[in-house]
Amino acid sequence: MRHIEIQGLEKSYGDVPVLEGLSLEVDQGELLAVLGPSGCGKSTLLRCLAGLEAPSGGRIFMGGRDVTHLPPGDRNVGMVFQSYALFPNLDVLGNVTFGLRARGIGATEARRMGIQVLDMVELKGLEGRMIWEISGGQRQRVALARALAIRPQVLLLDEPLSALDAKVRERLREHIRGIQRELSVTTILVTHDQEEAMEMADRIGIMNRGRMLQVGTPEEVFMNPADRFVATFMGRANLIPAELAGRVWNLDGQSDWMIRPHLVDICSPHDPGAITGTVEDVVLSGGTVRVKVRIYQGLVVSSEAPYRPGGLPHRGQPVGIRASMEHLVRLTGPVSA
Ligand SMILES: Nc1ncnc2c1ncn2[C@@H]1O[C@H](COP(=O)(O)OP(=O)(O)OP(=O)(O)O)[C@@H](O)[C@H]1O
Ligand SMILES: [Mg+2]
Repeated sequence: MRHIEIQGLEKSYGDVPVLEGLSLEVDQGELLAVLGPSGCGKSTLLRCLAGLEAPSGGRIFMGGRDVTHLPPGDRNVGMVFQSYALFPNLDVLGNVTFGLRARGIGATEARRMGIQVLDMVELKGLEGRMIWEISGGQRQRVALARALAIRPQVLLLDEPLSALDAKVRERLREHIRGIQRELSVTTILVTHDQEEAMEMADRIGIMNRGRMLQVGTPEEVFMNPADRFVATFMGRANLIPAELAGRVWNLDGQSDWMIRPHLVDICSPHDPGAITGTVEDVVLSGGTVRVKVRIYQGLVVSSEAPYRPGGLPHRGQPVGIRASMEHLVRLTGPVSA
């Protein structure tokens, strides 16, 4: 069931357009990640949804209700801001119960509800700490608890994990996802981290310059990107000019083509059908080996494969590469990433 519907949303600051006719639909209980480069309008979109900015045009519906011009307090939306925005003069519990008290809930009941959400984010016992007495990861969970305390129908998360180190970030990703599923709260998560979007989201919307370029499941946007921008933003991509592709994979037409590195195999240069080249670079990262191979006309193609002990290729080594025609994706649009 559709929960949020955004139709042709526009927002300008002065005469500078920031959102330019952006449309998006989010289902009940879905976690949709909005992914895009810095300055493309992600926070502005969330602030319009929360009612903190007035759109210059377009409409926002939540649960079938037109909320475009409703004040924030009437929208039942919980928001976690890019910079936590916790109240430094309040302790942890005070931060979490702030919204409840503002909605007229009595001190005892607010306290009970506050402790319940602090338990959910695994911060029980820290109620009385001041904000400067807890870690960055704990602050982030206080911000999440504060947003959840009002039992929102819609949860808006603006880069909630970007300030944290990799380990904490990974743990909190799973944590947030778990809570989101358990409460089945419709969520829009803004991030510029492609991996975070892929790991957390039911669907991903890729934004650039105030527009939504493509919305789809992680697999759809990764394997069938609508254009070059999406292709290169959604992970590593080998972009293959048509005239070269014509020689390599026997394609024609004016379009350029893309193949993901993990679908390119390294083989012996003598294998029948192999394209021959020279290893230009080898990187071992995590459990993955990334090999760059220079083939003809200066074209460099990356291959990625799980690391197996023994026999990493070395720079300058002659190798072959191989890929399946059906894994080549045709791209449209200008290269802008
Ligand atoms: N209050 C404002 N007044 C004028 N311009 C603004 C205002 N807020 C944002 N902008 C501009 O609008 C554009 C979009 O800003 P926004 O904060 O939505 O980007 P973002 O996608 O969230 O970027 P980031 O990933 O860096 O957080 C930027 O060019 C920004 O400078
Ligand atoms: Mg932002």
